[in-house]
Amino acid sequence: MDKHKRFIKMAGDKKLIIGNWKMNLNIGEASLFLHKLSKIVKTHRDVEVVLAPTTLALQPLSLQVNLKQFKLAAQNFYWRDSGTYTGEVSASQLRGIVQYALVGHSERRHVFNENDKDIRSKVAAAVRNGIRPVLCIGETAWEHASNETHDVLHDQLTGGLANITSEELEQVVIAYEPVWAISAGQDSKPVNVSPTDVISAIKAVRSQIEHLYGKKAAESIQVLYGGSVTSDSVADYLAISGVDGLLVGGASLNANTFNEILEKAHKGSKVAKKG
Ligand code: PGA
Repeated sequence: MDKHKRFIKMAGDKKLIIGNWKMNLNIGEASLFLHKLSKIVKTHRDVEVVLAPTTLALQPLSLQVNLKQFKLAAQNFYWRDSGTYTGEVSASQLRGIVQYALVGHSERRHVFNENDKDIRSKVAAAVRNGIRPVLCIGETAWEHASNETHDVLHDQLTGGLANITSEELEQVVIAYEPVWAISAGQDSKPVNVSPTDVISAIKAVRSQIEHLYGKKAAESIQVLYGGSVTSDSVADYLAISGVDGLLVGGASLNANTFNEILEKAHKGSKVAKKG
């Protein structure tokens, strides 16, 4: 097994927890927050922790972070490597600064009108630059109510992965986030999605991956759940078969809450190994 494949295999055995800070915290605040987290978060071999701060803070945080404790993710980037694209940041400029990048988060799709064509180019750009893309997919409230979840997941997966070979898929992470469950801010109430809905969506994701890339790929790809995850719900979501980790928004902005989530992810995977 070559070095790259071994890394992917190891990553597959771990729970992957990503904290998406969205458009919160300036550079100084992000640096202080990382400092605080680094004091309280214990490193566990079975949990990979990724932080996604504002793009501005990525470079200073990349100098501050202990990569054994936390990895860094970009929240967004442009898919061309360089050129006349005023205001954009490319995956090639992020190379060496981040290890992961979110792609097609629902806020990018719905607030900034990103479509599957943009998203597939970004997935490919991340892979080309040695960055693991976290392809975010999920249905809106209306699509959910109209029983269109599986169709939406099918289209977003097929569209987002159109430029990706089987070998490249080993670098890709999928995050299933029902758009209607993503919290609208710090004061909004968490939306608890029923395990039945999550199980059915995760199954649909893996079965579409199987259709596109085969059984082995469907079993080994990391699939995360996201949307209103709190320290109270973390264990329930991680207990769902096929959920390999979490994408956490609001709850990742409180150091103690985020640490609780990480500790529960660690304890949960210990229980799962024993069982
Ligand atoms: P939330 O955000 O945990 O605040 O719902 C999740 C996300 O948008 O990734």
